[in-house]
Amino acid sequence: MSKRRFLVTAALPYSNGRLHVGHIAGAYLPADIYVRYLRSNGDDVRFICGSDDNGVAIEISARLEKTTPAELSTRYNKKQYADFEGLGIHFDIYGGTHQPEYVETHNRLSQEFFKANHNNGHFVKKSSEQLYDAQADQFLPDRYVKGTCYHTLEDGTPCGNPEALGDQCEQCGNGIDPLQLINPVSTITGTTPEQRTTTHWYLQLSKFQGMLADWFSLVSLDWRSTVINFAMGAIKKGLPERAMTRDLQWGVPVPLDDPDAQGKVLYVWFDAPIGYVSFTATLCQQLDGDWQKYRDWWQNPDCKIVHFIGEDNTVFHALIWPAMLLGTQYSSKEIAARGSTYTAPKERGYYQLPTNVVANAFLNIRTRDQKEEKISKSRKNAIWIEDYLKTFDPDPLRYYLTINAPESQRTAWNIDDFIERNNAELIATLGNFVNRWQKIVTDDFERKVPSADCADQLEADLLAKLKALPKSVGDDIEAMRFKSALGRIMDGFRECNRYIDTREPWKTRKSDGPRCAATIHTCIQAVRTLGTLLEPFLPFAAEKIRQSLNVPTDQWIWSKATDELPIGHALGPIPDILFRKIDP
Ligand code: 2FM
Ligand code: ZN
Repeated sequence: MSKRRFLVTAALPYSNGRLHVGHIAGAYLPADIYVRYLRSNGDDVRFICGSDDNGVAIEISARLEKTTPAELSTRYNKKQYADFEGLGIHFDIYGGTHQPEYVETHNRLSQEFFKANHNNGHFVKKSSEQLYDAQADQFLPDRYVKGTCYHTLEDGTPCGNPEALGDQCEQCGNGIDPLQLINPVSTITGTTPEQRTTTHWYLQLSKFQGMLADWFSLVSLDWRSTVINFAMGAIKKGLPERAMTRDLQWGVPVPLDDPDAQGKVLYVWFDAPIGYVSFTATLCQQLDGDWQKYRDWWQNPDCKIVHFIGEDNTVFHALIWPAMLLGTQYSSKEIAARGSTYTAPKERGYYQLPTNVVANAFLNIRTRDQKEEKISKSRKNAIWIEDYLKTFDPDPLRYYLTINAPESQRTAWNIDDFIERNNAELIATLGNFVNRWQKIVTDDFERKVPSADCADQLEADLLAKLKALPKSVGDDIEAMRFKSALGRIMDGFRECNRYIDTREPWKTRKSDGPRCAATIHTCIQAVRTLGTLLEPFLPFAAEKIRQSLNVPTDQWIWSKATDELPIGHALGPIPDILFRKIDP
């Protein structure tokens, strides 16, 4: 099969805090598994991430920490990068929308996007009343104001979240118009805001509805139903226009020659997804010496673009971002003329819409007294990656967050379940199978693959089951079913343990040498297959397994997972301990 080309992104985390297990479960771990799988499969991939440095959230945190947005965002950018690396989540580039090495390209591309949409007639400039904090002497966009959510849920009941922020309600996932918030309060001074007039540029999202709906009908079978249902539901209600500029200092300046644009910046959700593009451009500059090569990824019909996000980002990635992309290509007149027909650009030079937007639900936390709550800094219930890595290894976390992934609905982190799965599944099932024949192959077979002369139906059956795994696990991963994919591999280990229990090589090594040899031969082939398939999920354990089998890295790939190690092949050293027991 010829190489496919993929551009994979993971949501840009705000650089105003550390990362916790919920962040990792939401976007970053599934993205990393997917990218590792694609690479193992021989596909050509770029994996893009970096921090979301602009906007209100960063300004507020800088205020609280009595520092500048620049200092704060650089500090957290570095911490987040270290957390990702510690978990084995390796991006090809980890940028930052306001980091010194990235900001120039990022601002330029963001401004180009804005101007293209502006020239194509997708903005309406409007003066309107906005919330204003007289004590702080500033407007209160986005998170500078909070109040009670005014949205109605699908069952007709009000959302009523009392902590809804001025940009988005985290409870119902809907965008928020701050003016409609019930009992709004300034998050700067705690006072009730007044209203003053200001001018902004509003993206006319309703114009794109027909094309977006048509596009969803084309991709819907490949996407998670949670994302499609959310997006189609929003289109059915009608997409409201959204202001894409803000009265703030910190961000990308509005690139218009208009006195009303002075002192304003782009809305952070306008420039953030462009970060994916601008970091790709910087990466192309680094790798190919030409930033313009980003077009080979973004404006190339042969490249698949996949965004991994948390559920609260769905509206931005499935609706607003695609509208912005279409808005660079089509004028509002052209869109009106096309009606509700979406056709993917077949030639290069136009932005492609995402091939998939993969959203996980939130990961909650279950306390030891069995209360399930949202992970939050203020509740002090978060498990921070930095803290986790001081005591534990990355693979058990990767395992737990995948086997318990919030793929179709929310799940909860439960520390006792985490410990139990580490001890019972990683150690007693996976690690145990890799280890239980190591002494025999060392003592009796000089760590060389023994012959399988007396293999019979039991061996053939086991190997046949394993031979089917690369396809079924790969199909699951291609369909974004990571939990199921890892479950299949673990079932493979369970099957192997049953096999070795039946064959009892620790007995036959004395009584029936050829039988023992065939058993060890089969165990080695099984670990070769399962170890290769484990790589995207548990890369640290998989690497130890690879070394212990002495398989070169260029053979440790999906298409060779069931290639048998030949009789006489010299294994590497007994693997280091794969997983450490955790004492509850
Ligand atoms: O929710 C968040 O953490 C946002 N900073 C995600 C941005 S994703 C992208 F569009 F940049
Ligand atoms: Zn709500």
